[in-house]
Amino acid sequence: MKKQALFRILSNTPLPDQDFLLKLQPVGASLEGIRPGQFVQVLVPHTEGVFLRRPISVCDADLRENILTLYIKKVGKGTVGLSCCKPGENLDIVFPLGNGFDFTGSRKPLLLGGGAGIAPMVLLSKKMRESGVAPTVLLAGRTERALSLRTLFEETPLLCTDDGSIGEKGLITQHSLFRDLKAFDKIFCCGPTPMMKAVARLAEAAGIPCEVSLENTMACGVGACLCCVTPTVEHGNQCVCTEGPVFDSRELKDFR
Ligand SMILES: Cc1cc2nc3c(=O)[nH]c(=O)nc-3n(C[C@H](O)[C@H](O)[C@H](O)COP(=O)(O)OP(=O)(O)OC[C@H]3O[C@@H](n4cnc5c(N)ncnc54)[C@H](O)[C@@H]3O)c2cc1C
Ligand code: FES
Repeated sequence: MKKQALFRILSNTPLPDQDFLLKLQPVGASLEGIRPGQFVQVLVPHTEGVFLRRPISVCDADLRENILTLYIKKVGKGTVGLSCCKPGENLDIVFPLGNGFDFTGSRKPLLLGGGAGIAPMVLLSKKMRESGVAPTVLLAGRTERALSLRTLFEETPLLCTDDGSIGEKGLITQHSLFRDLKAFDKIFCCGPTPMMKAVARLAEAAGIPCEVSLENTMACGVGACLCCVTPTVEHGNQCVCTEGPVFDSRELKDFR
């Protein structure tokens, strides 16, 4: 069930490529029940003109220590405002939101993350390992600097970069893994929309189910404003904030 709580900032670590990592602890609330692929809505403090909460994926949730990790890219006023927050300050957060990935039954999963879309793959891979499944993880970025989150994965992820500075050179769909997609029974993907569309096309051609996590622009985050809708094949327009952000790619009209 969705909650609103203050989260104390434990650390705010700058990373290369305009990224930063926030570690937060809810005050008087528990992270119990949070699922990989879900997101939170963060109120941005001390920032003139930013009234709407910003949606950010759950990157990691340590249930034993009750610590939430968020990985954020500075792209505009809201995310720059969050990057200035100091340890000891509190953030007002609504959580957990959205549906999350469905990995039940998948024994040979392939996890694909690009850009800020690498974030949800951290908790997803952790939960898969806890359930006895060893996922294959492939991360993509423009350069090595965009892949700083790779150190948060327990397994060593495969990498690819546009400039070849680390891992294989080229787009994620040019990685050698894509020569044998049938080695996997399900794909889980989060990243820029063109990347997810290209992955979904190849998955469909290989007959492998593919879940994608959409990052449509959001306002309310709870299904009230309809600004995040996406057309689906069977259920008409659906709110990404409540029916998603994770969808079976074959359900999405924009992916066909
Ligand atoms: C479900 C969900 C999960 C997300 N998870 C993360 C995450 O884990 N880490 C992270 O860094 N970001 C994530 N985002 C994107 C993040 O919410 C936006 O980058 C942020 O809202 C931008 O706010 P801003 O005030 O900094 O920028 P704005 O001033 O609002 O916009 C600045 C620029 O960013 C673009 N922008 C705005 N919203 C988005 C968006 N949703 N996706 C891509 N570009 C956008 C705008 O078009 C504009 O060009 C997620 C978005 C969604 C919907
Ligand atoms: S963001 Fe308002 S309905 Fe989805």
